[in-house]
Amino acid sequence: MAESMQGLKRTYRCGELSVANIGETVTVMGWVQKNRNKGGLVFVDVRDRSGIVQVVFEEGKMDEELISRAASLRSEYVVAIVGRVEKRSGAVNTNLLTGEIEVIPSKLRILSESETPPFPIEENSRTKEELRLKYRYLDLRRPDLQRNLMMRSQVATLTRQFLSKEGFLEIETPVLGKSTPEGARDYLVPSRIHPGSFYGLPQSPQLYKQLLMCSGYDRYFQIAKCFRDEDLRADRQPEFTQIDMELSFVDVDDVIDVNERLLAELFREILGVEVSLPIPRMTWQEAMDRFGSDKPDIRFGMELTNVTEVVKDCEFVVFRTAIENGGTVRGINAKGQGAMPRKKIDKLVSFAKDFGAKGLAYIALQEDGTIKSSFAKFMSEEEMQSLIHAMNGEPGDLLLFAADKNKVVWDVLGNLRLELAKQMELLHPEEYKFIWITEFPLLEWSEEQGRYTAMHHPFTMPMEEDLKWIDSDPGKVRAKAYDIVLNGNEIGGGSVRIHQNDIQEKMFEVLGFTKEEAYEQFGFLLEAFKYGVPPHAGLAYGLDRMVMLMAKEDSIRDVIAFPKVKDASCLMTEAPGVVDDKQLAELGLETREEKE
Ligand code: AMO
Ligand code: AMP
Repeated sequence: MAESMQGLKRTYRCGELSVANIGETVTVMGWVQKNRNKGGLVFVDVRDRSGIVQVVFEEGKMDEELISRAASLRSEYVVAIVGRVEKRSGAVNTNLLTGEIEVIPSKLRILSESETPPFPIEENSRTKEELRLKYRYLDLRRPDLQRNLMMRSQVATLTRQFLSKEGFLEIETPVLGKSTPEGARDYLVPSRIHPGSFYGLPQSPQLYKQLLMCSGYDRYFQIAKCFRDEDLRADRQPEFTQIDMELSFVDVDDVIDVNERLLAELFREILGVEVSLPIPRMTWQEAMDRFGSDKPDIRFGMELTNVTEVVKDCEFVVFRTAIENGGTVRGINAKGQGAMPRKKIDKLVSFAKDFGAKGLAYIALQEDGTIKSSFAKFMSEEEMQSLIHAMNGEPGDLLLFAADKNKVVWDVLGNLRLELAKQMELLHPEEYKFIWITEFPLLEWSEEQGRYTAMHHPFTMPMEEDLKWIDSDPGKVRAKAYDIVLNGNEIGGGSVRIHQNDIQEKMFEVLGFTKEEAYEQFGFLLEAFKYGVPPHAGLAYGLDRMVMLMAKEDSIRDVIAFPKVKDASCLMTEAPGVVDDKQLAELGLETREEKE
């Protein structure tokens, strides 16, 4: 039977009590974690978001009635307890913050009873995620998730404090906006007042923050909800949060400077980790050549080696054709993996094929000086030796090669490198390695669309010295764009924006927009730029990804209170759902049965 608090006031959270409180009468409130009845002695663990405290009900020391009520407590009942803090009579529990003390109660109120929860509320739950997400409100009681969400709140608070101190203004931008189909797919919201018209939910506040620069706000930030209708992965949600910012009268170095100090502050205050500044920078080209990725994990080596020159005259058709078709041959050296069984190597080959490789050639250098290789028969002894030499191969090493167009070779070896690092246990989660990736290509050729698309977005400024190629060889032009990468994850990105009309028009032309099309989508921004626009630049972090890495989690779902699953639905609320015909009619909408 549930009671009210009857004037009781909580004086401490459970986890706040320590030897400093011994002798003090305190009031704690929380959930019953567990209840051990040893006949005449009842131990009740009470939990709240700060931790757990042990309450001891003992026959002879207190009312019979109090003890029998304590014995009736079950997991997840909500209780209020008044009692004296004492030094633990039994063994000290070093796993608990409050392990040296216990509470000897004088009052117990049962504030709420609980049915048996569908899974135990405990750290490192082994319950299937689907069940936990269905009862997310119970899952969120677990200490690991509570710590993650508390950390997330701390990141947001410190960010606000830091950026305010640096002269940034926090300004909100609309969620109901105009759909601008560049980048991912938009989420649409039908308008009731304008039947047949739709708002688009923002993929990011990009255009608004540029307008705020036109309006003179100088330094803006926002912790902004963003929506992207794209395929979900462990690091992607349909709605996610950015720490978004934009600055006027700045260039690349200014944006990088303030952000390095922000990152250093967050990691120092929250994790006690010193980020040594400046954070290293690497051009996109170097990142691709050395790591096969524009978000390299630099906690370990195993870098790519370009062996095109070494093998260009060999008889091995696979290498020769790739080179003749304008591709390259590159390899990685998995140190000490030369004895890998054939079956395991075959798994690596099929892993490579998943990333578009036609195959994966290997040389396994045995400790006794012999070699096992999938292509030795096509090579002369000298060719083989110079290839091994180029790869710094030593007895006991496994050399893996991909031959194809650069893009494929990078993707295959970049991912293989990560896979091998996992297998070889080279990734240490307590190590934090940041790197800026700079000088991205401005444009990317899209086979699908048969045109160039913006690698970042159409407002990104080309590097001045590359503008000379914008007509003759657009693919060669680099952008003033930068990403911040942490342990192989892109946690943020941004760019200097175009603020000159002629360059912006050129950009639309290269992207294949007519002037009319550009105006139809971005007219308000282009108009605004006619009335005095400051040079500006900005950046946005994926807050969820940043907190995921800080909390050493593998999925952003573990740092989001109510996340969605792979098919973009919510298992708890069952959103999205059908709506009734009246609602649809008001919106001027009709739904059609999906045909089989
Ligand atoms: P960008 O598209 O790179 O840039 O996004 C910035 C950061 O947001 C995070 N992110 C995501 N996190 C979770 N789920 C998603 N679906 C998702 N998509 C992106 C990433 C990424 O680095 N307006 C520009 C920023 C700018 O130029 O200032 C932008 O949105 O961590
Ligand atoms: P094959 O002659 O097709 O049996 O290939 C010989 C070896 O080369 C096998 O180990 C294949 O996996 C490998 N191979 C095939 N295509 C490629 C490629 N594009 N890059 C690297 N290795 C390849």
